[in-house]
Amino acid sequence: MSARAPRTPRRDVPAGGAGPVDETAPVLRLEGVRKAFGSTTVLDGVDLDVARDEVVALIGASGSGKSTLLRTVNLLETVDDGRIVLDGLDVTDPRVRVDAVRARIGVVFQHFNLFPHLTVLDNVALASRHVLRRPRAEAEARALELLDRVGLGDKAGAYPDRLSGGQQQRVAIARALAPRPAVLLLDEITSALDPELVGEVLDLVRTLKEVGTTILMATHEMAFARDVADRVVFLDAGRVAEQGPPAQLFTAPRTDRAREFLARFSS
Ligand SMILES: Nc1ncnc2c1ncn2[C@@H]1O[C@H](COP(=O)(O)OP(=O)(O)OP(=O)(O)O)[C@@H](O)[C@H]1O
Ligand SMILES: [Mg+2]
Repeated sequence: MSARAPRTPRRDVPAGGAGPVDETAPVLRLEGVRKAFGSTTVLDGVDLDVARDEVVALIGASGSGKSTLLRTVNLLETVDDGRIVLDGLDVTDPRVRVDAVRARIGVVFQHFNLFPHLTVLDNVALASRHVLRRPRAEAEARALELLDRVGLGDKAGAYPDRLSGGQQQRVAIARALAPRPAVLLLDEITSALDPELVGEVLDLVRTLKEVGTTILMATHEMAFARDVADRVVFLDAGRVAEQGPPAQLFTAPRTDRAREFLARFSS
């Protein structure tokens, strides 16, 4: 993990926000977020809200900035300008404790990144034990509950290399959920899977939505975005070019850019 360079001397800011959480406020808010790599602007003033229990799909061409956006939320990239507010806390404030913010965010990437030398149970229990410092028994009970939820309770003692790619990705999702994050960030979680394994992972995301999970996911699976997302955000060259409910955006896009992008998926 790349560490974030502190911009000023750090003073601890609590990770849970300044006061009681307002249930109607967005869980996640990006305001005017800008990010450049050298002379290339990758995020060009992104405004985006994710409401509690909302599932938002980020779509857009390769290189449009989806992964970078998710990485700025998780503080894997610093922003050049703008703010990112998670549960009322400005996580782009240089004084925040990066680990405490990350403990409030579950992340699953394209590649499973499970620890190969740890059992499935230990992979899922790890964050609760070492980041949240929960006792082993409590962390393991939580891990088992989550493994049951993702349909892998019987694999708790197995090592990741004994699992299929789809099962490994389900473990990665269980691991991301273990610390009860405020938001789950999913970056192309099915794109490294064999086609026959994609369905089980997408079914799991559907189940998470049904039980109420706040999700921001980058995806190339348009049918899935259409089926599961409450709102679809189309990124074009680092800008939110268009957003709306899937039924509207996929059938009647308002911008030429979205129309052109979606036309590639309809043949
Ligand atoms: N660390 C980095 N250094 C330099 N350029 C980067 C870095 N990370 C991303 N980029 C550039 O930023 C742009 C956006 O990349 P990003 O990975 O966010 O796109 P994406 O929408 O996720 O694409 P894909 O659909 O292929 O996953 C690309 O031009 C990429 O080359
Ligand atoms: Mg990407």
